Parts: sequence; structure tokens; C-alpha cells
Amino acid sequence: MNKDSYKKLLLKKGKEAITCLTAYSFPFAKILDGLVDLILIGDSVGTTIYGMKNTRNVSLAMMKNHAKAVVKISNLSMTIVDMPYNTYKTKKESLKNALDILKFTKADFVKIETDIRNVEIVKFLSDNNIDVVSHIGVNPQKFSDFRKIRSVGKNLNEINKLVKLAIKLEEAGSKLIVLECVTIAASKLITKKLSIPTIGIGSSKYCDGQVLVIDDMLNFDSDFKKPKYVKKYMNVEREIKKAVQKFVYDVKNKKFPSNKNSYK
Ligand code: KIV
Repeated sequence: MNKDSYKKLLLKKGKEAITCLTAYSFPFAKILDGLVDLILIGDSVGTTIYGMKNTRNVSLAMMKNHAKAVVKISNLSMTIVDMPYNTYKTKKESLKNALDILKFTKADFVKIETDIRNVEIVKFLSDNNIDVVSHIGVNPQKFSDFRKIRSVGKNLNEINKLVKLAIKLEEAGSKLIVLECVTIAASKLITKKLSIPTIGIGSSKYCDGQVLVIDDMLNFDSDFKKPKYVKKYMNVEREIKKAVQKFVYDVKNKKFPSNKNSYK
């Protein structure tokens, strides 16, 4: 991990909102680098790039290859790589796989989906000098059907559980915590109680930072119903379609290639 960049990130807590978007490829990372604080190579690569229904079939090899391409061009933003489903079940396996990912990609952090049962894994990885981002609230890897996802932290009991978990994860050495679909009340309290930054996705403006899946905010695949927390900043699908239709028109009408695009 780049320690100076992490120190700068910590200084933003409570002062300046931290920004994070996903990227899975070199050209997207080239655009994002330096514009956002953090680039996440999420296992959402499975649903966004590979057309999978959930993230459970994303492999270590897929994560490593996408992350390597992203990290290669990310000189200013810090990078987080997701550890895929079933790659951090035991301490030994999680350390082996985290070392493998980090050595191959040179990313700054690994992210793991955490609940009370795997706080020990976070501690073991941190004790072994792996920089871990914990992901709490909704853990998408637990769902084979994303339509069943509901927000968490809706009552006092749930809020207390989430706050306790977040504190344990900070004590275990987590460097950042992602809160997914955590209610306003819970995310506000967790952010206040922790000294490490919280990064929210569907978890209110009270988090120290925000992350979105880039395909969602650019509105790739407009047929796919996005979660309520997504704000669509453009309709990239429409723009690409327009360009493709223009290309097809030009080719059919012998307007492309012109002499300008041909060799003499
Ligand atoms: O995989 C991913 O893109 C993520 C975000 C939903 C935070 O983990």
C-alpha cells in the first residue's frame, strides 16, 4: 500500500468526502485515475462485464487479470481489489489468495465481504501486513438472486449489531469500511464511532465517502433495473448506439472509409 496516499485519505475523514468508482479495464482506469480517490476492481465485474446473474462465479484469475490492467495505469488513485466468493473461507486460504492477488496486481488493498463470523480473517490478514477493506451491511456474495437484497439497520437491534461489527473490524485492522445498503441512522452512527473512513453505497450522505459501480452511474444496459441508490449521470448506452448507427449508415452509403481514412 502507498502509505502517504493512505495518510491523505485518513485526513479527509469528517472534512472532505472521499470518492470511489469501480473500473475493470485499462481505458476506464485511465479516465478515473486522479479524478477519484479510490478505484475499486469489484467482483461486480461478473455482472457488468461477463453478464453473470450474481458474483459467485467470479474467479481469482478474473479478478487478478482485471485488477492488473487497472493498477497498471492508476498512478494517482489508490486501488482496491475484491477477493471473490469462496476465496477467504479459512485463515490459511485467505492469506495465500490475498498475497497472490496483491503480488500479481500491486493493488493497495484487498476487500472482503465481512460479517461477525469472519472478523478473525480480517485480523489474521492485517497481522500479516495485508491492507484490508471490510465490506459490511449487504454482502452481495451471499445472494444468488440480487432481487432479494434488502437494506439493513432498520431497527435498534440491527443498528447495534452493525455498529459492534464495524468497531470490531476497525480493531481487527481494517483500513476502510464499505457500507452497502445500510440505513441513514446506522451509517451515520457507524461513521461517527469509527476513526477509519466509511465508504457508502446506498448508505446515505453521512458516510465519509461514496462508491458506485461505474456501469450503473453511466447507465450501461438501460434495460437492467438499477437499485434505488444509483444516480445515472449519463446514458452511455444511448450515445454508443448513436455512434454505431452512424457507422452502419456510413458504411452502407459508402461514406466510410473516405480517402482520408484510406492509404494511397
Ligand atoms: O463489487 C463491487 O463493485 C462492490 C461495490 C458494490 C461496492 O463491491
